[in-house]
Amino acid sequence: MCGIVGYVGPQDARDVVLEGLRRLEYRGYDSAGIAVVADGALSSAKKAGKLANLEKVLAERPLPAATIGIGHTRWATHGGPTDRNAHPHLSADGSVAVIHNGIIENFAVLRAECEKDGIEFTSETDTEVAAHLLARAYDAAPEGEGRLADAMRTVCRRLEGAFTLVATAAAEPDTLVAARRSSPLVVGIGDGEYFLGSDVAAFIAHTREARELGQDQVVEIDRHRGLTVTDFAGAEVEPTAYTVDWDAAAAEKGGYDWFMLKEIAEQPQAIADTLLGRLGVRGELVLDEVRLSDQELRDIDKIFVVACGTAYHAGLIAKYAIEHWTRIPVEVEVASEFRYRDPVLDRSTLVVVISQSGETMDTLMALRHAKDQNARVLAICNANGSTIPRESDAVLYTHAGPEVAVASTKGFLTQLVACYLVGLFLAQIRGVKYEDEVSAIVADLRRLPEAVAQVLAGMEPVRELARSLADANTILFLGRHVGFPVALEGALKLKELAYIHAEGFAAGELKHGPIAVIDQGTPVIVIVPSPRSRESVHGKVVSNIQEVRARGARTIVIAEEGDEDVVPYADHLIRIPRTPTLLAPVVTTIPLQVLACEIADTRGLDVDQPRNLAKSVTVE
Ligand code: AGP
Repeated sequence: MCGIVGYVGPQDARDVVLEGLRRLEYRGYDSAGIAVVADGALSSAKKAGKLANLEKVLAERPLPAATIGIGHTRWATHGGPTDRNAHPHLSADGSVAVIHNGIIENFAVLRAECEKDGIEFTSETDTEVAAHLLARAYDAAPEGEGRLADAMRTVCRRLEGAFTLVATAAAEPDTLVAARRSSPLVVGIGDGEYFLGSDVAAFIAHTREARELGQDQVVEIDRHRGLTVTDFAGAEVEPTAYTVDWDAAAAEKGGYDWFMLKEIAEQPQAIADTLLGRLGVRGELVLDEVRLSDQELRDIDKIFVVACGTAYHAGLIAKYAIEHWTRIPVEVEVASEFRYRDPVLDRSTLVVVISQSGETMDTLMALRHAKDQNARVLAICNANGSTIPRESDAVLYTHAGPEVAVASTKGFLTQLVACYLVGLFLAQIRGVKYEDEVSAIVADLRRLPEAVAQVLAGMEPVRELARSLADANTILFLGRHVGFPVALEGALKLKELAYIHAEGFAAGELKHGPIAVIDQGTPVIVIVPSPRSRESVHGKVVSNIQEVRARGARTIVIAEEGDEDVVPYADHLIRIPRTPTLLAPVVTTIPLQVLACEIADTRGLDVDQPRNLAKSVTVE
């Protein structure tokens, strides 16, 4: 969602800010804007649509060179994606400019108050109210050092909802001020220069030194005096310092047409990085970063896995593995529903929140609800320094590197691997598995990067198949056991990338209704479990393939090497290497990622930034 960039330092702020916005494009947006301070005045430009539109405006009407600037990519919430609604928003008197991510929930009341004072609004956004309030507070604040920060604190105390705000003032050419509540913001520290970003991608080309801002904090950056962080009341706080372990090259396309293709290709390495340092020499799990004591882990009697979208699908698969290995009951829930149904949680409940970005608002709110109810929260997360791990009791980072494409690929596979680690670790600590059982599964985990590389090497026929599916109106996905969440994930990928109607079903549910939609030629993709899977699940899925084929479906079958039972019923057969049942989703998902990516590309769509979507969903 909205991307935020701020810069103060010796470089030309126009270039740094635009470059930062480009690096945040992946978050998803529908308008963009920039403001700089030069010669005691604020100058801004903004435009609906992609950054190229803004750049065209800037080419025709350049902003003055400046050493301080702010920039924004907006994902519309209040008011459509128009030029007027794009950020930055300037106060009526032109004294301050503001950019914002989040939703100001009490904006209607505050807007009415400003209008009563004679202020005319020029947009339909909730953000504009912050600009006018800030100008008023700035006017009222004592002159001298810290005046803009003082005004920002006054405004923040009046705002309800979630927000990151960054402001600059015409009279303060060396000062940037920002505030955050439940919305992301990180500070980058360079050599005599400072950066603000919704995430570190905005500035990793310049510096890897970063500071995390906590909840309800205001940062004032003065080019000469440096950084001061306070809470909304004005009490100084020490921000947490960290070094970003991603490099700038990791956030570039590296010769691929799409970030998504690059991220699919990176999956063997990403999985290896998730496992790195966590598998001991004796085949045991070493998860030192899970800061819960052995006794706390032994006391757990129920697990909730809470997440959104693709991360939720990882949770659905985790349930099969964790329950099987630990015998602890696991419930999986979409984060946006979790807190509203009053789940039963207590000190012996472990809530595992999964989030690639670490900023998904629904997941964050679920986490806070779990903590309010006294549950222990373990985060599985990719983005270092993000809000979700910071607020959790413990965190297991996936170390997948930056995921730029909106569609999650390596994020998902590494979440799965992290879930396996958590399940096995619990089994090890609680002594419910013999050591040699744990080490046998650990050996299977070690083989995953190679298995994934093998699947990737055989994807050309899948790409060819994808091109023949590009005109389909509906594609169905079927699976049983862990193949069912994989079917859901395959359908989600296709919907979000190719805008094709797609649904995933538990194969056994088909005959209870959905089979009626199958028509002559309807493509049905079936994820077949290993013939070695339990209680003839394999045989049942083979029967399901026959059922849909008998009704005219075009069957696309994903099955293990050597599984000959499926051959007579598969119009297209995609082979995957032999993999233990519970770990199989790591390999069976890959053809579905490639299929969705290739179909979208064939349809001429933007694979990395599908319409209406944002990479990290920072509003509820
Ligand atoms: C995945 O392809 C989606 N874009 C989306 O479902 C995503 O997984 C979801 O929004 C959760 O994001 P998170 O992992 O960053 O919390």
